[in-house]
Amino acid sequence: MKATAKAHTNIALIKYWGKRNEALILPTNNSLSITLDGFYTTTSVEFKEELLNDRFLLNDTVVEGEQFQRVTQFLDLVRSLSGKELFAEVASVNAVPTAAGFASSASGFAALAAASSKAIGLNLTDTELSRLTRQGSGSACRSVFGGFAEWQKGEAEDGSDSYAVPIAPMEHWDIRVAAVVLSSKMKKVSSRAGMRRTVETSPFFKGWVDSIHQDLEAIKEGIHNKDFEKVGEIAEANCLKMHATTLGAIPPFTYWLDTTLSVMQTVQQLRDSGVPAYFTIDAGPNVKVLYLPEHEEKVQETLRNIPGVSDVKLSRVGRGISYLEDDKVV
Ligand code: DP6
Repeated sequence: MKATAKAHTNIALIKYWGKRNEALILPTNNSLSITLDGFYTTTSVEFKEELLNDRFLLNDTVVEGEQFQRVTQFLDLVRSLSGKELFAEVASVNAVPTAAGFASSASGFAALAAASSKAIGLNLTDTELSRLTRQGSGSACRSVFGGFAEWQKGEAEDGSDSYAVPIAPMEHWDIRVAAVVLSSKMKKVSSRAGMRRTVETSPFFKGWVDSIHQDLEAIKEGIHNKDFEKVGEIAEANCLKMHATTLGAIPPFTYWLDTTLSVMQTVQQLRDSGVPAYFTIDAGPNVKVLYLPEHEEKVQETLRNIPGVSDVKLSRVGRGISYLEDDKVV
């Protein structure tokens, strides 16, 4: 009753921002992301008769509190699906630098869902796995798939049609993502709290939701045709629209720091100088920059030289879930 799975994080080009059902994690809009090979979580789950509680180790440290609650609540779902009342030992190793501002919850819940469902004997299809993963953290349901994936929001009240589908495999297109890590930190409004406040109070939220369909259709065409300028322009504009909704919330908030703006301006200057590069930003101050392989050196050097930037981590498009035995993919 043991399994180990590896899942990569993802970066959304069309953002998931807003829930229509918080308990089931059902979104108000479809979203689309690239799975990234550079940042991942490996998780082992073992269900054991003798355990009286779940246990969760993250990078060899016992985790308690809210983070533990989210894991154990997720395992409750897996237990109820399988009909088996067994507790589990969960050990995760994160190769997602938290400082890089990636939602490690995306790779974390995708790896947890894959390992726990396999360990307890549920033989899930990718669609079923994505639907289950969604209930741990929304953005995680896209990480079941490699390459480019779309999370279809679905219409059903029970969430049965809300899961990710593959749009293009990782081999389709070698585009790159630079994660720009900023040296200063700030107190974070979590994505969960931020999107809730936006849905409940921002007059701009309706405009955000209304604009998604057009962005999605255009970006899917751009991905299909490998039209980098088109994909970059839509992703950057979509990110700006998402962040604009937070300024209309009550109380208003923003995830940006001064260096966030410097990086955004530098990316725009790179474009003016003939290097196609585009930014996107999640629920935090760090910036992710999309570029093509031939511009890697220039992009990396330019970003590293911005005052207030502490690191730049590069990634390619990555694969979906894999299962491991003795550190080998099975
Ligand atoms: C801004 O998936 O972390 O990164 O479903 O509440 O766990 P929960 O939220 P989460 O939100 C991610 C929001 C985002 C955009 C995105 O990844 O699409």
